[in-house]
Amino acid sequence: MRATALAHSNIALVKYWGKRDVDLNLPAAGSVSLTLAGMSTRTTVEFDTGFSADTFELDGEVASPEATFRVSQFLDLCWYDDERPRARVVSSNDFPTAAGLASSASGFAALAVAATSAAERQLNEAEVSVLARRGSGSAARSVVSGFAWMSRGERADGMDCHAYSFADPDYWDLRCVVALCARGKKAVGSTDGMTHTMQTSPYYDAWVETVAEAMVSAREAVLERDFERLASVAEASCLQMHASAQASRPGVLYWNGTTVELIHAVREWRAEGLPVFFTIDAGPHVKVFCPASHVEKVRDRVADVDGVLDILEARPGHGARVVEDDA
Ligand code: PMV
Repeated sequence: MRATALAHSNIALVKYWGKRDVDLNLPAAGSVSLTLAGMSTRTTVEFDTGFSADTFELDGEVASPEATFRVSQFLDLCWYDDERPRARVVSSNDFPTAAGLASSASGFAALAVAATSAAERQLNEAEVSVLARRGSGSAARSVVSGFAWMSRGERADGMDCHAYSFADPDYWDLRCVVALCARGKKAVGSTDGMTHTMQTSPYYDAWVETVAEAMVSAREAVLERDFERLASVAEASCLQMHASAQASRPGVLYWNGTTVELIHAVREWRAEGLPVFFTIDAGPHVKVFCPASHVEKVRDRVADVDGVLDILEARPGHGARVVEDDA
């Protein structure tokens, strides 16, 4: 009753922002993303009837009671009946945790795969994606490989709300240069930020109305490997999502000065002919996309922008999977 899984982070090209059901974590609209090799979580789950409580170790340290509780609740969903044995969960990220780099996406995707495998459940990819979604909306997308389409779904029970891959990781060799623009955890978590936006932003409904068309356009752009079109739809989705959050009361502003410098810089580079676009999630960091052929130049340029603290590079990656247990 033990298994280890590896899952990568993912970045939304068309963003998810807002829930139609908070308990089931059902999004108000769909999203389109890319699963990213190079930003990973590795998680081992061991169930044992001899354990007296669930324990959760994250990056070598005992996790907080709140984080452990969230893991316990999720493990209940992964087990097949009400008699779940307690578990030992050991997890590590190879990138900064909870800094707006989607560690919850790779985290819950890895946990879903490791826990259901340790429980010896035979689930298909869509079922694992549904399960991962209960932990974090974006985690549903890290279950699948490459370019992912996350359906909003229509059913009240959420069983049709999951991701699937529409292009493999090797379909298009894009690179994502992640510019770290601050240290430490973000001030407003994504769930709080999106709930507040839904409740108080006069732009929220307008934002939701943009999503369906943007998803179709992003998928076509990927399938045609049309970088310019993808740049246009991804930047618009990012800015529209942030505009709806910024229009809340009080406004939710995830950016710092370096974030804004990078937005301007990316636009200047593109005007000069460099194929690049930016996207930003619920944090200050900027993800700069480019074709693999331009990644060295883009890395150098991003590193030169004042305030950029560090750089990570990611490429299209595979979905969450069971890996060899090295303990
Ligand atoms: O599912 P969460 O709580 O990780 O929220 C994801 C929200 C964004 O990263 C801002 C957008 C997205 O689609 O990933």
